[in-house]
Amino acid sequence: MTKGMKAPLLKVRELKKHFPVRKGLFGRVRKVVRAVDGVSFHVNQGETFGLVGESGCGKSTTARCILRAIEPTDGKVWFNLQGSSTEITQLDTEELRQVWRQAQMIFQDPYYSLNPRLTVEEIISEPLQCFQVGTKASRQQKVAETMEVVGLDPNHMSRYPHAFSGGQRQRIGIARALVLNPCLIVADEPVSALDVSIQAQILNLLQDLQDQFMLTYLFISHDLGVVKHICDRVAVMYKGQLVELATAHDLFSDPKHPYVELLLSAVPRPDPNYQMKPIVFARAKKEVSQSADSCLFANRCPYAADICYHQTPMLVNEAKGSEPEHLVACHRSGDLRLEGVSEAE
Ligand SMILES: Nc1ncnc2c1ncn2[C@@H]1O[C@H](COP(=O)(O)OP(=O)(O)OP(=O)(O)O)[C@@H](O)[C@H]1O
Ligand SMILES: [Mg+2]
Repeated sequence: MTKGMKAPLLKVRELKKHFPVRKGLFGRVRKVVRAVDGVSFHVNQGETFGLVGESGCGKSTTARCILRAIEPTDGKVWFNLQGSSTEITQLDTEELRQVWRQAQMIFQDPYYSLNPRLTVEEIISEPLQCFQVGTKASRQQKVAETMEVVGLDPNHMSRYPHAFSGGQRQRIGIARALVLNPCLIVADEPVSALDVSIQAQILNLLQDLQDQFMLTYLFISHDLGVVKHICDRVAVMYKGQLVELATAHDLFSDPKHPYVELLLSAVPRPDPNYQMKPIVFARAKKEVSQSADSCLFANRCPYAADICYHQTPMLVNEAKGSEPEHLVACHRSGDLRLEGVSEAE
């Protein structure tokens, strides 16, 4: 369900990140990887916005560019900082620190994202120290409170990360992200490395924290099953571009892009009689490159028509009347009836 409409917390316009690939350290540029290639979306305050797509489609690069952990090649990002819209892409490092205080990240792998040489107290209090918040005693108090909030025993704050299970380590990562009271949390595959039962616990925790602290999430995942349960709106990425963006309900029940239908057909269903749709790949008429004027999905698409090979589809709103925005980049979206996943599944 979409929560009450408020002003966007984050706006991303035509974001691009191109990586030059060189031969040798100082060799000439052999090709350019268009990891993110003109991505636009906004994230409303208090919502969970999902960014999904297969491995290598550019999800993490998008997140890193948004927070300017890496410099985007082009495009603009605005962040609503204390009521006024600030263009992140224009800020110097000192001003950026104010944004980083409000926008924190949770990473995929709780084994690698925590420094094994630091105690849990040191890990969680690091952002407080970095921003020179409070005294040593007040920081320790804040660490204890935050550990309790995420379901960890504060008596264990002097332990090292190896003494915790995977799920507990991810709770430590969440505590570290929460300790500065941010308004935006970018969660990059936060449950992908965890067992299914632990995944559910962490997702429930993230939802509880959202209600408790009025958090906004940019939730990155390749797992549509997870996205369906936690996200209000979802954008699907393919080869550095958005192919569809809609409310989670509309995307799952009424997908309009063949790539999304393909992803949905792989979501496990509880119905033992469900026959998985065979995935038919179109015969590649010609190889589609990222620089070509064509649909990037054309040579994997079972519905590709001639136009798909010589014209790039624009992302357009297919919603009717007062329906919520449903953006899709497909020449054939108007005449295809694609198979989604019903509410019960
Ligand atoms: N520093 C880099 N130099 C060159 N190419 C890069 C660099 N970082 C990322 N890429 C490429 O950019 C593309 C997008 O990578 P990215 O990590 O954003 O994908 P992703 O969607 O997060 O994938 P995953 O689900 O596996 O995490 C990939 O093809 C990757 O190889
Ligand atoms: Mg990634």
